[in-house]
Amino acid sequence: MTVTCRRCRSAPAEVQLAYAKLSLCPNCFQEFYVNRVRRTVEEFKMFKPKDKVGVAVSGGKDSMALLHSLKTAFPITNFIALHIDLGIKDYSKHCKEKVEKLAKMLDVELEVFDLESELGFSIDDFRKTIYRRKLCSACGTIKRHLFEVLAERAKTRILATGHNLDDVVATMLNNFFNGNWSQLVRLKPVLKPLMPNQTFKIKPLIKTPEEENLLYCLYSEIPFREVNCPHAHTERLKENKDMLQYLSKGNPGFRHQMLKNFLKLIPILEKAIEKPKLTTCKICGFPSSAEVCAFCKRVEMVRKVKK
Ligand code: AMP
Ligand code: FES
Ligand code: ZN
Repeated sequence: MTVTCRRCRSAPAEVQLAYAKLSLCPNCFQEFYVNRVRRTVEEFKMFKPKDKVGVAVSGGKDSMALLHSLKTAFPITNFIALHIDLGIKDYSKHCKEKVEKLAKMLDVELEVFDLESELGFSIDDFRKTIYRRKLCSACGTIKRHLFEVLAERAKTRILATGHNLDDVVATMLNNFFNGNWSQLVRLKPVLKPLMPNQTFKIKPLIKTPEEENLLYCLYSEIPFREVNCPHAHTERLKENKDMLQYLSKGNPGFRHQMLKNFLKLIPILEKAIEKPKLTTCKICGFPSSAEVCAFCKRVEMVRKVKK
């Protein structure tokens, strides 16, 4: 028996959202998805419609769905896509092509940072360093720094990333397990800059389950990367995410409930933990807890092995 959409009551339902007890047709699902993005931006006061907003777009389904849905939800906002070409063989070129395609499709400006041509190395080069077993972590440090560089080039102080509900809850569990409270509080929907002139980091997909980003891309005919990063097996969060998917089968609201309670905990934790003492990196001038920041240390290391 075909189920009809709970919203329009005419088209056949294709998407079951167990946590919301909703069965929706593709059109109503897209509307539901965009409305949630709009409401999340408004609830957490992420930006105002007339702001200029940088969107970090990797080519993956999450950030591609993010750019498309933001543009649909806020048609008058000036969005600029920011992409880092990491120089990963058989991967980065493919990602960049997808990002270029979407930017063109949406008529959005695109700013690219090319690691290889601008800094003289690629993420693959970290295979020859002590980071060979934790390439993703070195890559994460490099990306976080370059987001700030790209935002400055694009003259924006707001940076949206595609972190979804599963990313946030899985990372939160990891930080909980390790007692890493200072990292845990950084998972909030709007992260203020550590120092003036840096960006406000926003997560408009914080309430969106990972699997819905894929559906949104497919229904909206959004291009996205079809290959995985060859270094992805070093990603630590995968097991936590699989566990969350498993727990959500028995309790569909599990991830949302975890996020809700976690958001209540953040202000309490923030008061309790000591703020890190920051200085500026003597090489790049970015905020750092040591004389030389994590980014510059890694750059120095990779350049040494390239010589
Ligand atoms: P990840 O750390 O790979 O899970 O990515 C988290 C978010 O960072 C993505 O949703 C994007 O918004 C952003 N991001 C990751 N890689 C890139 C990239 N190469 N260029 C631009 N943004 C990226
Ligand atoms: Fe950074 Fe894969 S994208 S290591
Ligand atoms: Zn530095």
